[in-house]
Amino acid sequence: MHQRQAWKVLTPVLLQIATAQQVTDLSTYSWTLQNEVGNISIPARIPSYAHLDLQANNVVGQLEYGLNDFDLRWIWMQNWTYSTVLSDLSSSAAQTYLLFQGLDTFTSIELCGQHVASTNNQFRQYYLDVSDILSDCNESPLLSINFGSAPQIAEDIANEPGQEMWPYGTEIPGPAYAPAGPWQPAYAVQLGQSQVHPRNVLVDIYKQGQRNNLIPDQDQPWVMNASIDVLGTLPDGASLSYTVKDASNGTVVSGNLADVNQTDSVVTGSITIPKDSVDLWWPVGMGPQTLYYVTIDVMSASNQAIASVTRRVGFRTIVLNETPVTDDQIALGIAPGNNWHFEINGHPFYAKGSNFIPPDVFWPRVNASTTRTLLNSVVAGNQNMLRVWSSGAYSPDFMYDIADELGILLWSEFEFGDALYPVNPEFLSNVYEEAVYQVRRVNHHPSLAYWAGGNELENLELPTANESDPERFPQLLAEYEQLFLTTLFPAVFENTRSISYAPSSTSNGFISLNFTDPPYFQERYDNTTGGIYGETDYYNYDSSVAFNTSAYPVGRFSNEFGYHSMPSLQTWRQYIPDDQLSFNSTHVIYRNRHYPPGSLNTTNYANTSKGMGEMTLAAQRWYPTPHKSDSIANFSAWCWTTQVFQAEYYGSQIQFYRRGSGLPQRTLGSLYWQLEDQWAAPTWAGIEVDGRWKVLHYRARDLYQNVVVSPFFDESTRELEVWVTSDLWEGVSGAVDATWYFWNGTEVTNVKGLHGQEVSVGALNSTRVWSVDLGEELAGYDMEDIVLRMSVSATGRRPNNEEKTPFTHTNWFHASRLSEANLVDPGLEISHDQDGQTFTVSAKSGVSAFTWIDYPAGVVVTFDDNGFWLGKGESKRLGYNVTGDTTGGAWVQGVTVQSLWNNTLDD
Ligand SMILES: *[C@@H]1O[C@H](CO)[C@@H](O)[C@H](O)[C@H]1NC(C)=O
Ligand SMILES: *[C@@H]1O[C@H](CO)[C@@H](O)[C@H](O)[C@H]1NC(C)=O
Ligand SMILES: *[C@@H]1O[C@H](CO)[C@@H](O)[C@H](O)[C@H]1NC(C)=O
Ligand SMILES: *[C@@H]1O[C@H](CO)[C@@H](O)[C@H](O)[C@H]1NC(C)=O
Ligand SMILES: *[C@@H]1O[C@H](CO)[C@@H](O)[C@H](O)[C@H]1NC(C)=O
Ligand SMILES: *[C@@H]1O[C@H](CO)[C@@H](O)[C@H](O)[C@H]1NC(C)=O
Ligand SMILES: *[C@@H]1O[C@H](CO)[C@@H](O)[C@H](O)[C@H]1NC(C)=O
Ligand SMILES: *[C@@H]1O[C@H](CO)[C@@H](O)[C@H](O)[C@H]1NC(C)=O
Repeated sequence: MHQRQAWKVLTPVLLQIATAQQVTDLSTYSWTLQNEVGNISIPARIPSYAHLDLQANNVVGQLEYGLNDFDLRWIWMQNWTYSTVLSDLSSSAAQTYLLFQGLDTFTSIELCGQHVASTNNQFRQYYLDVSDILSDCNESPLLSINFGSAPQIAEDIANEPGQEMWPYGTEIPGPAYAPAGPWQPAYAVQLGQSQVHPRNVLVDIYKQGQRNNLIPDQDQPWVMNASIDVLGTLPDGASLSYTVKDASNGTVVSGNLADVNQTDSVVTGSITIPKDSVDLWWPVGMGPQTLYYVTIDVMSASNQAIASVTRRVGFRTIVLNETPVTDDQIALGIAPGNNWHFEINGHPFYAKGSNFIPPDVFWPRVNASTTRTLLNSVVAGNQNMLRVWSSGAYSPDFMYDIADELGILLWSEFEFGDALYPVNPEFLSNVYEEAVYQVRRVNHHPSLAYWAGGNELENLELPTANESDPERFPQLLAEYEQLFLTTLFPAVFENTRSISYAPSSTSNGFISLNFTDPPYFQERYDNTTGGIYGETDYYNYDSSVAFNTSAYPVGRFSNEFGYHSMPSLQTWRQYIPDDQLSFNSTHVIYRNRHYPPGSLNTTNYANTSKGMGEMTLAAQRWYPTPHKSDSIANFSAWCWTTQVFQAEYYGSQIQFYRRGSGLPQRTLGSLYWQLEDQWAAPTWAGIEVDGRWKVLHYRARDLYQNVVVSPFFDESTRELEVWVTSDLWEGVSGAVDATWYFWNGTEVTNVKGLHGQEVSVGALNSTRVWSVDLGEELAGYDMEDIVLRMSVSATGRRPNNEEKTPFTHTNWFHASRLSEANLVDPGLEISHDQDGQTFTVSAKSGVSAFTWIDYPAGVVVTFDDNGFWLGKGESKRLGYNVTGDTTGGAWVQGVTVQSLWNNTLDD
């Protein structure tokens, strides 16, 4: 622990430095963590959470293990104090600030025995002038930050008279650790006379004349607006000089920003940049991710540089187009209503992706390296957009940085979801400060695609409130508009012109928009007669209709859909004891949060059992279910089977939403729920907590290719259609084959199929290539015996690419439920080629459904494909990517291959 020094004892060296600006990272100090009860006092670090320091000091074990989510709740039921002595700060600075990038959440801060501030917002930057306290400090300057219990304080606030409540109880939809602590970096900033320190920087790049949510004119020059928030007082007559450099640090443009405007703490200026002097930034698959460095120097009236900031930027326009469908669009077959899609640099595109949740309950453990690994899986999964769901945290800069480099668009949200919020002036101004800080902080990133006010408020919560309490509804609606329109929208448009805003995901869009007076948007709400409007969000846990496409929502963009599945045995094993490795064990049930318990009650089994039942029923309904004699192997096979259902269900919806690009709904987005896990539990994730891909991530990767061939079967009419869908920006043409096989791999003769059927698909479009009555096509055969293999082979051009590229895709259709199919042993074999770093899988004796390459714990291996089908005699050579290998390469010997047929075996 840091030795307490007498404050007055300062070395001459430090006194000299004191005349210059000095920024001290408070993580370099030794900290102490103490609890309210007083029995715990341990060394601590920042950024951190009490939980992490308790684990680091062995006060508690592995935080995520077993039922610790319940057993460690004593931690959040009391206060925790982080303290340190600011021992070597200068005593002669004109001003000293404490700069906190994030305190989670309710704190009381003291320095030298004096109260400095109380904070109550995890997402704000706090900058506290402690100059007077320090100069009066006659002892060692002890800094202490007392964190209250957020759940208890929130409960107290909710119980105050006059607070609004939705008609729902407290829910724990995920792990409930409610961590408290200084979760983001903190600094002491000391300034001499006339010095300033930049605490936040806005760089906004947009087309001249552009306004939020409106389609920019691509022929206009760029405008670059820069605005710097400083600590200290800006001298009168400040100016701003700028340089834009390319990736190899060649200067592209430089000079002084025009229209400079300043207050004591903010200086702003802008400049136009000719359109042709920079290259565009594109999302992955649509062109290069060209990046530039912008440096802005703040100059005093006597032309001294008093501050300098650099931000990496990209030149692009991204807009959410919510304009009415035009007559020209209607003439093309698009249904009337509004548009609801994104356009990059003037081009509509198909958004393919998923929903990102906090990758860890404990954010200080998330870093650039873990984030890059995850985002590499996004790109490998053929995804170009993530919806960063609101109920977590604003993404750190390094996440946007990596997304900028990889070309992943980040739909970002303010942190509101599925709840009713206060609208008193203190709360609204707190929210406004938070929003302004966050909007300015991340705006320079070209990956930033959009700001939404929050999650599931407009199309889900408002109608529910209207139904349950119609008398109070007008007031609730007015409060909704006060927060999401009157407060949040200005926080966006006063700071950026480049980014679109909407009050909620999901919504039906606006009828009109102006920037003069609130409420700015005339909202459409449920006024949707005579057209198709807005986004969809779809969950249906009745697995009997999982593959009935007429149950799926028809909209312009699908931002959420899903079903839960189990993680793999390898992942479970790391988090629960061996005696808990069974489907409905106590640990599995308690870790399941679908459905959430509806309270903090740990013994409420009823809701979670319902979710366990849904997974079980889906597996039983659609697949042969495992009955292995070895109980662990049986558990593993059950986990996998729930993943197969999940993958097939999402796959059915992804193909439906992609085909929608060529139907009147003109659907231009599919973002499934959810990309990844934050712990080991039954969830909707496609990537497990340690990075393993579930069957879903592979299936989505396959179906997010540019050109795909898809079957659509209507069980009531027995009609099968085959469609080819392309999200390329030019037409593609090629041929489609569709061949029927028995499960033993013998081709079915005497049926038509398709043989070299020519197909052309327009830009961002879908074409039906075959429509057949299965009863007629397969007359005389049993559906249980037969499968259809479809393939498309086409050529076309990728966006911004001159070269013609071949596109191929294979897909399978089973004419009966797989639970009833007469599966045969496909005779799978797998071999490893050490030199070529590939595996080869082949099916010797039959059709292999959901061919699955499995590998041991202690490593994450992602294969070029997995969960695929193979025809008899077919083989597939697969490259792979290895991360975090703790087995020294021995995992290769533990690789196995299986398929759905293995579910029919006793061992
Ligand atoms: C707990 O923390 C809150 C917020 O900092 C503070 O208001 C309260 O006084 C603290 N209570 C105790 C017992 O430390
Ligand atoms: C260009 O400058 C930036 C910022 O100063 C630096 O991080 C980067 O490494 C430089 N790049 C090259 C290619 O020199
Ligand atoms: C400078 O900023 C103030 C405050 O935002 C604003 O009222 C004023 O119009 C601005 N002046 C110029 C020249 O942009
Ligand atoms: C737009 O501006 C007018 C006039 O300032 C105002 O009356 C109206 O409520 C505003 N909002 C919308 C959505 O039209
Ligand atoms: C409903 O939407 C139509 C079509 O956009 C619009 O003309 C009409 O004014 C809206 N009605 C209401 C009550 O907002
Ligand atoms: C928790 O739920 C169980 C079963 O519903 C009930 O018996 C028990 O009283 C509840 N406990 C608390 C603390 O609410
Ligand atoms: C798990 O428990 C649920 C709820 O009781 C039940 O419906 C389901 O059949 C069980 N699943 C398995 C695989 O035993
Ligand atoms: C495959 O199954 C079909 C239908 O049962 C049968 O007619 C055919 O002879 C079988 N082929 C082989 C190679 O066993």
